[in-house]
Amino acid sequence: MKYNFDTLSNRENTSCVKYDLRQTIFGKRDVIPLWVADMDFETPDFIRDAIMKRAAHPVYGYTFRDVDYYQPIIEWMLSHHDWKIQKDDIIFCPGVVPALNLAVLAFTQPGDKIIIQPPVYHPFFSAVRDHDRELVFNQLIRKEDKYTINFELLEEQAKNAVMLILCNPHNPVGRCWDQSELEMIAKICLKHHVLVLSDEIHADLVMPEHKHRVFATLSPEAAEIAITAHAPSKTFNLAGLATSSVIISDPDRRSVFSRFIERLHLNMGNLFGNVASTAAYSQGEPWRLQLIGYLHNNIDLTAAFIKDNIPGLEMIMPEATYMIWLDFRKFMVDDETLKHKLIHEAGLGLNPGTTFGPGGEGFMRMNIACPRSTLEIALSRLQTIFR
Ligand SMILES: Cc1ncc(COP(=O)(O)O)c(C=O)c1O
Repeated sequence: MKYNFDTLSNRENTSCVKYDLRQTIFGKRDVIPLWVADMDFETPDFIRDAIMKRAAHPVYGYTFRDVDYYQPIIEWMLSHHDWKIQKDDIIFCPGVVPALNLAVLAFTQPGDKIIIQPPVYHPFFSAVRDHDRELVFNQLIRKEDKYTINFELLEEQAKNAVMLILCNPHNPVGRCWDQSELEMIAKICLKHHVLVLSDEIHADLVMPEHKHRVFATLSPEAAEIAITAHAPSKTFNLAGLATSSVIISDPDRRSVFSRFIERLHLNMGNLFGNVASTAAYSQGEPWRLQLIGYLHNNIDLTAAFIKDNIPGLEMIMPEATYMIWLDFRKFMVDDETLKHKLIHEAGLGLNPGTTFGPGGEGFMRMNIACPRSTLEIALSRLQTIFR
């Protein structure tokens, strides 16, 4: 194995949200941080080398993105997702959350209904509400140990909606939506002229027995209603570099979006994000494969530990992402007590399920993208309070 994911990297005092904001978020500065979605693993050496090489040149002036930036993205999409795109389909955006907000502003009007599928990544709520659009909840349904989509309700809601923000794969419930589910979404959205804003930031973090399907690849018709957001940030631990892509096949819609970005002068981006993206997409596959293996083992370890040691606690097995969705409802404690126990008795900093909207009550989201030694300590602390 070439890369060592067991290394403990001290992230404190690096203006790091996950560690340095613990006092602010949890009221306790020494919780084990298993919350915000970045990884405790070092960003791979080939990316750091590329950044350092560029940083060695002493001028950090305005830069542009040329073919060296776009070609690795194009090749990655083809080799990983059977998605044939061209340079002109790709619009740079300084982050996926900004892309969601900009797409809502560019393609909908105040008062328009936008569907989201809670429990879901919380910035989906603000991307709609902050711009005076109306949220419509197509709440996911739990069927035994898996979440599915309420298609009947979606069909009803789509009649009056203009957009669906799809989380593909889904954070926090970890679903890697399968082909038939995505086809059903496409069918409904095409029938009712609903745009699909597909957040695919976790597309390259899919567990070995599953396969990510890009919504826009389902059919030429699906591609016409799709706006896809993708980024190297989750996979290669680059979130601080704010670099992502919005990919739109429909030329009219694409020009609306790129004019929007240009008018706000967001197209410049940052020099080091460009360099990192190129290194990630052109050299990143061996690292990514090893990362998936490590995350998969962390997921299995967590599942086995909980099954053997914490009866009553249920874990939803993620098919993708490094987030684990934990169901504490059998312990019959309210959300405030649950939060308090985790922070103050177990010393653990997790995301309360209620952050992700309806359906999150009694749940917690745990980030397992950390060295195994950290995870083992966290699990044994969990056991001490919930066994
Ligand atoms: C579904 C999803 N979209 C977007 C983001 C963040 O994207 P960015 O940092 O590029 O704004 C996250 C981070 O957790 C996420 O889970």
